[in-house]
Amino acid sequence: MIIGIPKEIMHDEARVAATPETVGKYVNDGFEVLVETGAGEGALYHDEDYVKAGATLVDNPQEIYDRAELILKVKEPLMNEQKGKHEVDMMHEGQTLVTFIHPASPVNHEMVKRLAARGVTAITLDGIPRISRAQSMDALTSMSTCAGYKGILMAADMMTTFVPQMFTAVGQIKPAKVLVIGVGVAGLQALATAKRLGAITYAADIRPMASENASSLGAKVIDTTVPSELAVAEGGYANRLPHDVLLREREALRETIQEMDIVFCSALIPGKIAPIIITEDMVKGMKKGSVIVDISIDQGGNCELTPKGGIEKKYGVTLMGVKNIPGLLPTSSTWMFSNNLYNLVKYLVKDGQIVLDRTDEIIQKSLVCVGGELVHAGAREAMGLM
Ligand code: NAI
Repeated sequence: MIIGIPKEIMHDEARVAATPETVGKYVNDGFEVLVETGAGEGALYHDEDYVKAGATLVDNPQEIYDRAELILKVKEPLMNEQKGKHEVDMMHEGQTLVTFIHPASPVNHEMVKRLAARGVTAITLDGIPRISRAQSMDALTSMSTCAGYKGILMAADMMTTFVPQMFTAVGQIKPAKVLVIGVGVAGLQALATAKRLGAITYAADIRPMASENASSLGAKVIDTTVPSELAVAEGGYANRLPHDVLLREREALRETIQEMDIVFCSALIPGKIAPIIITEDMVKGMKKGSVIVDISIDQGGNCELTPKGGIEKKYGVTLMGVKNIPGLLPTSSTWMFSNNLYNLVKYLVKDGQIVLDRTDEIIQKSLVCVGGELVHAGAREAMGLM
């Protein structure tokens, strides 16, 4: 079977779907691997190392799409301006695509319908369930880990003060205070990173389990006042809160937020728009020079003022809504991502064939389209097809 690794075409995307290390593993397993020339350069994975690992370099992405049975990518198919062709139109019937597709998101509906109409089999990495069997394939968790770590470093870099406590010849400097709201994968990593930098850490989450995890990392847990029967949905994920409960949560966090130097926002309800936890009024009351890092910006953000995709200062507070934070850590994020993909490919391919076990939760949740049909439940619901 031939695997194709095209270079990512999204502006500023430095990640790539395979490293020379995973290419070597694919080749050992009997795959042929085509890598677009320069695909890994942005993440410091070099052409000569892909060749040494057994890959064939290909200059023209169309040749990769023509020859490969399995295409591995990082981002959803986009318009390739250089070639004047959409990546969907480079694909063909029966080909399998594995990447982040976010099929329920309205901006992707048209593209997903076209993928289905073309007869492509598409698997979305954001659909891989968080179950122990699928942990090694869970690229979303890997990327959230990257965002938690890098997001805190970026916040620290934007501050005008030290993060750790400092004892100097001219006196003592107090450590920074960091609050993480939404202590899932990204939030836990943010807490751990802030702690390593020497900050005093605080955490707020509506799921008791998340609060326990935060506490075990040494964070002081702030009570959101949300009863756990309202907070936790089936499968242990967070629930969307009724408006009055959300209003109470805001009030419960207001005072703590005003004392913080960094507020890291990573509160999310899977498949839904992110809850607004910090209002404009709350930002007005924050310390001058403090920083809000709002990584839930792709789902709308947890702070009402976060700029979509950039950094702005309002009321003396720096608001960061940078998207694609893992892309700013491209060597490590690519290493994690490509290993997740390798594990997923091993699960998908049996005796040189892709086998889709439609009764398995991993396939049920991640399969977007097959045989000309759009099958992803979340996407169908979002499109009003069920
Ligand atoms: P997760 O699902 O593991 O964690 C979300 C947490 O938010 C859960 O613990 C949940 O209980 C909590 N939560 C939900 N509603 C809440 C509320 N009202 N108050 C307090 N906590 C609440 O998600 P993960 O993987 O940690 O990702 C978090 C966010 O980061 C997502 O929006 C994700 O898309 C985003 N992300 C952004 C990246 C970027 O580059 N900007 C990269 C990776 C992830």
